[in-house]
Amino acid sequence: MDIEELKRQAAARALEWVRPGMRLGLGTGSTAKHFVDLLAERVRAGLDVIGVPTSEATRAQAERLGVPLTTLDETPALDLTVDGADEIAPDLSLIKGGGGALLREKIVAAASSRMIVIADEAKWVPRLGRFRLPVEVVPFGLASTQRAVEAAAAACGAPGSATLRQGRDGHAFVTDGGHWILDAAPGQIADPKSLADRLNAIPGVVEHGLFIGLAQAAILAGPAGVRVVERR
Ligand code: A5P
Repeated sequence: MDIEELKRQAAARALEWVRPGMRLGLGTGSTAKHFVDLLAERVRAGLDVIGVPTSEATRAQAERLGVPLTTLDETPALDLTVDGADEIAPDLSLIKGGGGALLREKIVAAASSRMIVIADEAKWVPRLGRFRLPVEVVPFGLASTQRAVEAAAAACGAPGSATLRQGRDGHAFVTDGGHWILDAAPGQIADPKSLADRLNAIPGVVEHGLFIGLAQAAILAGPAGVRVVERR
């Protein structure tokens, strides 16, 4: 089955959690884009919701489609965030940030009572670390931060290089927050919490793509159908 169709099926199932009047976090990436498309159809049919986008790309899409938007400054507490992920482990810890929106995604998810992850089954892994781990950093002191990120991963038994993400123009990829991204390759991450703590302690690190304890449910679409995994 077409992968985009699977992503759309996962997004469609997530709509079942949306209720009139909800304040929604709107994720970023190709799967979240399907959700915003489908949500916009409901809005045009009269559904009353308001959303906070997790990226400028999602803001542009939602504005174009007529989804009412707000900000976390105007609406600091949200009911539900629906977002994609690069990897989902059985405890619903995630790697996110493949699209570079991890900082706003984490802020929005943390401001939400509930976060639901939508994905195709290929994102489900027994242990995080197959996908590179995005780490958002400030440009100042890049080489030092890079060394510290690699040391943090090595200390967690996951040595590997951290490389600066390039944009399409051949220069460093710049996030919506004006930062750069190091893509770390730690391999299998035995203890995501420990790695998260070490990364959080590095001054040049703004945020990292390990989302631990944020997602309450994952909606996974595969050739055999859609399944919902709830965090215990
Ligand atoms: C954006 O920064 C990411 O966190 C995305 O949510 C993640 O990369 C999933 O994207 P896709 O749905 O395009 O795979």
